[in-house]
Amino acid sequence: MKHFSVLGHPIAHSLSPRIHAAFGRQTGIELKYDAIDATAEEFFDTLQAFADAGGVGANITLPLKQSAFALSSSVTDRARRAGAVNTLARTGDGWHGDNTDGEGLVRDLTGRHGLDLRGRRTLLIGAGGAARGVAPALLDAGIGDLYVVNRTSERADALVDAMGQPGRVHSRYLHDLRTLGDFDLIINATSAGRGASLPDLPLSLFSPRPAVVDLSYGEAAIPFLAWARANDVRDVVDGLGMLVEQAAESFALWHGVRPQTDAIYAELRAKDVVLATAD
Ligand code: ATR
Repeated sequence: MKHFSVLGHPIAHSLSPRIHAAFGRQTGIELKYDAIDATAEEFFDTLQAFADAGGVGANITLPLKQSAFALSSSVTDRARRAGAVNTLARTGDGWHGDNTDGEGLVRDLTGRHGLDLRGRRTLLIGAGGAARGVAPALLDAGIGDLYVVNRTSERADALVDAMGQPGRVHSRYLHDLRTLGDFDLIINATSAGRGASLPDLPLSLFSPRPAVVDLSYGEAAIPFLAWARANDVRDVVDGLGMLVEQAAESFALWHGVRPQTDAIYAELRAKDVVLATAD
């Protein structure tokens, strides 16, 4: 039986083992998928031990995605543009790195939530691993101009440079948000919600019918999305669908078949996540 794992820190509450087990049952593919706790310091040795024990594929989550990119012996184009890897596949004595986060987000927004992303003037708040993972796919999906703001402005500059599309992708200061006009798509890619906090954002950001997205799910998504709802935003989406879709993309890379995602999404939405989405 092929052995897979998700590595990160903390990892105890990861939903990935449950999602991949459901995909395996659905497709009739036998697999073992568990969660391994690894800090940044432990990551390299832990991954090597996993490979030595027969591990053939891994998902990589916080705070290891940039380290996973650095250790990959080859990467896909989308992983290279993101500078971050969330999916590893064993190749000989190395790892092939991919990043399925952005594709997962776009599939969730367009497929599950029926949002047309084309031409949307987009604000991306945050410039860490999560933001870098989704920016390339959003651009490929045809959004309009992309504005990136971050508490540490150098990281926003670095993200914008990595996209290589000057004139379309812009870095701005967080404290200049009031001067940027309104946006059709606003994405919170900061980890601020994990500390139950919220970046200070003006209401002038909302276009007449914006979509507001938080890449996290569960309690971490509540402050930002509750703020949007309280201000009458109708299209409010958390990161649960993205989580399921990025898992399906990883599954397809490893097993050559893309599983159906609706059943496991509904199951997780019903059981684990406080905040339902509004379509
Ligand atoms: P992830 O992989 O989740 O993106 P990360 O790479 O550590 O994790 O990035 C966290 C992001 O959240 C960064 O954009 C960070 O801003 P800095 O680059 O300035 O650190 C942002 N962030 C975290 N806490 C925040 C807060 N309280 N207010 C605003 N931004 C915050």
